[in-house]
Amino acid sequence: MLLEGKRIAIFNVANKRSIAWAIAKALDAQGAELIVGYQNERTEDAVLALTGQLNRAPAAVVPCDVVVPEQIEAVQEAVAEKVGKIHGLVHSLAYAPRSALKNPYLFTEREDFLTTLEVSTYSLVALTRAFMPLFADEASVITITFYGAEKVMPNYNVMGVAKAALEASVRYLACDLGQAGVRVNAISSGPINTLAARGVEGFQGFLEIHRQKAPLKRSVEPREVGDAAVFLASDLSRAITGQVIYVDAGYQIMGV
Ligand SMILES: NC(=O)c1ccc[n+]([C@@H]2O[C@H](COP(=O)([O-])OP(=O)(O)OC[C@H]3O[C@@H](n4cnc5c(N)ncnc54)[C@H](O)[C@@H]3O)[C@@H](O)[C@H]2O)c1
Repeated sequence: MLLEGKRIAIFNVANKRSIAWAIAKALDAQGAELIVGYQNERTEDAVLALTGQLNRAPAAVVPCDVVVPEQIEAVQEAVAEKVGKIHGLVHSLAYAPRSALKNPYLFTEREDFLTTLEVSTYSLVALTRAFMPLFADEASVITITFYGAEKVMPNYNVMGVAKAALEASVRYLACDLGQAGVRVNAISSGPINTLAARGVEGFQGFLEIHRQKAPLKRSVEPREVGDAAVFLASDLSRAITGQVIYVDAGYQIMGV
């Protein structure tokens, strides 16, 4: 039980395929007590049903739409009241309008650019800042990124730019929070068939290329990202901060 006695907040689960849900199950299996977030009423029932499957009932299940600053504040207050100190924050959420994941990057509309960066990148800063007063000593912040931050992936477009900014945010936040003993890291996951991934035009083809090219000759299971999150949330990773850890069957090391 690597996470016995730790309370960890996870934003956001949408359904059983969500990477956030795989992480929730992995943390739960190691004894963590969870606070589980969902975006809005569209996913509320599904998330409440899922959380019923955890070994330990969550300390709270809370709505959190990150483009509504009052909601981030309300979530922080609810966690402060119901749970008190927390030992970890998992940020596993992103959004880009469909048109921005289809047309060439050159044609990204201003509004689409700002929305994507607000939801997918700024939300890490906003959530981390909101939870700072609640972090126990040696808390761990984890976000989920993708290799499209570094290399061009067809149709990933503005989301690649948002992930590049997310990875830079990990480094700046790690520097800011290090003195408080808080660590900040990203997991760069290989492609996984989720709702968000299916929004990227040509995703299935990319999954196939990944299987062929990755040294392990396979794709990545959500639970493998969950296991990496257990490591980063646990004391085993206590000297690791500001890093991007690849859980991608080795894809990132390949040239051609
Ligand atoms: N699936 C992949 O191939 C893959 C690979 C690398 C990284 N990631 C990243 O993993 C994270 C989770 O995505 P996923 O693939 O599990 O898909 P998902 O669709 O299950 O999860 C995306 C989550 O983002 C939430 N979200 C969207 N807009 C929001 C808003 N305004 N406020 C709050 N929440 C909002 C959704 O409600 C959902 O819970 C994302 O950051 C994604 O970019 C995914």
